[in-house]
Amino acid sequence: MSLTLPPLPYAYDALQPFMSKETLEFHHDKHHQAYVTNGNNLLKDSGLEGKSLEDIVKESFGKNPGLFNNAGQHYNHLHFWQWMKPNGGGAIPGTVEKAIIDSFGSVDKAKEEFIQAGVTQFGSGWSWLAVKDGKIVVMKTPNGENPLVHGATPILGCDVWEHSYYIDYRNRRPDYLKAFVDSLVNWEYVEELYTKAVG
Ligand SMILES: [Fe+2]
Repeated sequence: MSLTLPPLPYAYDALQPFMSKETLEFHHDKHHQAYVTNGNNLLKDSGLEGKSLEDIVKESFGKNPGLFNNAGQHYNHLHFWQWMKPNGGGAIPGTVEKAIIDSFGSVDKAKEEFIQAGVTQFGSGWSWLAVKDGKIVVMKTPNGENPLVHGATPILGCDVWEHSYYIDYRNRRPDYLKAFVDSLVNWEYVEELYTKAVG
C-alpha cells in the first residue's frame, strides 16, 4: 500500500478558539503531508510495501528508523484528527467511562494523568490512553512512537510536538493539553477504538 493523506474531517476553522485555522493548515497540510511523502519514499524497497499501516509501524520499529518515524507519525496523525471535534470534550460514552473509572478510580484522575504525561514528555512526543491487558492505561512516548510498539492499543492521543500548539499557546503546553481534554476530545471516536480493542 502507499500512504495517503485524507482531508481533515472538519473545516480548518472548526476547532477555534482552541486550535486555530493556521495551526491546522500547517499541521495537516505541511507536517502530516511531509510524513506521507517521506514515508512513501522510504517504503520503496523496504520489504514492507504490501503490509497494512499498523504492520509497517510495528515491523519497522527498531529496524528501519527513518521509515518508522514517518509511518508512525502518519498513523498517529490519522487518528489525531479524528480524536478531536468541534464542541468536543463533553460527556464520555458509558462503556468507555466505566472502563476509565475501573482503571483509574475516576474520570478526573484519568484526565489528570493524561495531561501530566503530556506535560512531562521531554521534547517532542505524545501522551496516550491505551488498552493494555484489558485495562486502560496512560502512556507517553517520544517522537513518532506510539503504544502499538509497546504491546498496547492506542484509544486517545495528544500530539505534544511544538508544531501542534506553538502558534496558539506558545510555550504553554499545559494550557494546550487542558484545552484538548476539556474542549476538543471526540469521545465517540475513543469509544469506537476502545470497543475494537477489547472486542
Ligand atoms: Fe504533529
